[in-house]
Amino acid sequence: MTKAKAWDAYAKQKPERRPVNAAGEATWFNWTQYADHGPGAEVLGVRPGSAVLELGCGKGGNLAHLATLGVNAVGVDVSLAQIKAAGARWSDTPMTLHRAEATHFLEETGAGFDSVFSVFGAVWFTDPAVLLPAIRRRLRPGGVLAFSQRPPIEGCYGCQASYINRSEDEDPLVVKRWDYEPDRWVELLTEHGFTAATAQVLAAPPGPRKVGTLLVRAHG
Ligand SMILES: C[S@@+](CC[C@H](N)C(=O)[O-])C[C@H]1O[C@@H](n2cnc3c(N)ncnc32)[C@H](O)[C@@H]1O
Repeated sequence: MTKAKAWDAYAKQKPERRPVNAAGEATWFNWTQYADHGPGAEVLGVRPGSAVLELGCGKGGNLAHLATLGVNAVGVDVSLAQIKAAGARWSDTPMTLHRAEATHFLEETGAGFDSVFSVFGAVWFTDPAVLLPAIRRRLRPGGVLAFSQRPPIEGCYGCQASYINRSEDEDPLVVKRWDYEPDRWVELLTEHGFTAATAQVLAAPPGPRKVGTLLVRAHG
């Protein structure tokens, strides 16, 4: 599977989350590409016992934080390397991990979820025309879908190529991602039956980097 191969290559390059954050906490939730920045798990509005699904959980840091809050945490990732790393790092944390492509998992599971989320994850890398209906079918009425990703480059909308670099004598691997302006995400979600959709770009923290984080939220 080409997609899985590309993300396995990415997994090898991506370091694990730090042991503790700036506040000294062993688990935390981060929606952005910047350490110790932005909102946390409250965006999902989950309570102990809520069923939560992460699409593209990677090495599992955000999911592990939700598990420590008493949430029934389920993570899906197409990359075996990512799932193995998540299982090893969070072996003492009660969460369920599946190696699966996000749409396939949603189509095959019989489970319902109070919240579905994705942090620079499968929602960014899957055609929303296919993924949004699949998510909506598994989201319980009133449940929350939330996801974050880099905002689009002006004028570059819809399906884009993302390159995963490898060694100098290997071609980069390519995965597809879907970029839209915040207003278009609100329209797309509404077209697919979600309600109360909001989308905003969170500013980068003070410093040399200026690219913010697109955070999108809606109800099922
Ligand atoms: C940029 S990483 C982000 C990982 C993690 N959410 C984080 O914040 O560190 C993207 C993740 O999404 C996974 N992914 C991409 N497309 C996917 C899909 N269609 N189904 C499942 N996982 C997918 C990749 O394997 C990778 O682990």
